[in-house]
Amino acid sequence: MTGAAGARMAAQLSERIIGQPDSLDAIVPYVQMYQAGLAPEGRPAGVFLLLGPTGTGKTRTVEALAEVIHGSPKHVLRIDCGEYQMEHEVAKLIGAPPGYLGHRETQPVLTQMKLNQVMSERANVAIVLFDEIEKAAPSLTRLLLGILDKGTLRLGDNTTVQFERTLIFLTSNLGAREMARELRPDFGFEAIAGAGAEAEDHARLEEVAVAAAKRKFAPEFINRIDLMLTYRPLTAESMEKILEIQLQELANHIARRMGDRCFYLQIPRRARRFLLENGTSVEYGARELKRTLHRHLMHPLAALVADGAVPPGTIVRCDLHSGGKRLDLVPLEEAA
Ligand SMILES: Nc1ncnc2c1ncn2[C@@H]1O[C@H](COP(=O)(O)OP(=O)(O)OP(=O)(O)O)[C@@H](O)[C@H]1O
Ligand SMILES: [Mg+2]
Repeated sequence: MTGAAGARMAAQLSERIIGQPDSLDAIVPYVQMYQAGLAPEGRPAGVFLLLGPTGTGKTRTVEALAEVIHGSPKHVLRIDCGEYQMEHEVAKLIGAPPGYLGHRETQPVLTQMKLNQVMSERANVAIVLFDEIEKAAPSLTRLLLGILDKGTLRLGDNTTVQFERTLIFLTSNLGAREMARELRPDFGFEAIAGAGAEAEDHARLEEVAVAAAKRKFAPEFINRIDLMLTYRPLTAESMEKILEIQLQELANHIARRMGDRCFYLQIPRRARRFLLENGTSVEYGARELKRTLHRHLMHPLAALVADGAVPPGTIVRCDLHSGGKRLDLVPLEEAA
């Protein structure tokens, strides 16, 4: 059961994360438990493993939560596990003991100060993200096991870092390939977009994802995870909403960056449809949409701006080119 505040938080998250309502609803109570002072002692306030196909909102969920809790997506201590694939790289996280080579010049990545820096005046909880955990060397998972178990981490210089006031997110696309196969043998966007048996599909995906996680991680590691959440492939309807969010973000970005030299975009419906058709990929989720926006909208726009063809206040009409294979960007007269 969630009260009014929980419902509000879930609503704020669902404005940002489309098509993953179960995950958002599951995360909110842990945040509230922390806010109410009822989180258990001696361990992090919440430990979440986000699974599922690429480009479905796993990493974005963590940023969105930081926006909602702290007011900015930057309030996340992000550990990119791809940078810790080798055993010796893991030492960068905790620093070398005094006297060892590199003790002075290497600041550990996981210090108390770094945790405190991602808290805010609004909330004294730190969001920590171990992104793409499947890439990490085994010693990183061992280190993490200690954090999940005791809520503390001992650094190379023998000081300890407290993780009680943290929400820890692990993301991974473990099992993504099997999931893709499971989804539809005859694998195509239309098949997914028109999926009728969505609940059933999701249950199967979840099984595959969780099984892959259990193969990869030791039982004691799995046991310390509060929630394993499997993200769904995005439907056509979700992609449409995500396009709207991204176009709005682009408009905000232009307004912020250009200041009083700001201009406006006008994107007719058929141009939006073109972007969606090109940006929809079963394989890459909304990542493909981002790439499409770059290629067909942002790059040509930047070229126009560089040529001085977009005076302040202009409306740039971005319509489908007659050939139907690209957008035509035409600066119109000034906005009223
Ligand atoms: N469900 C979603 N709602 C809103 N935006 C989304 C969603 N999924 C993806 N996006 C958009 O696509 C971008 C990439 O998504 P994200 O980084 O969250 O993917 P991911 O699930 O972490 O994938 P990977 O497994 O490859 O890391 C996001 O920055 C966001 O703009
Ligand atoms: Mg990610």
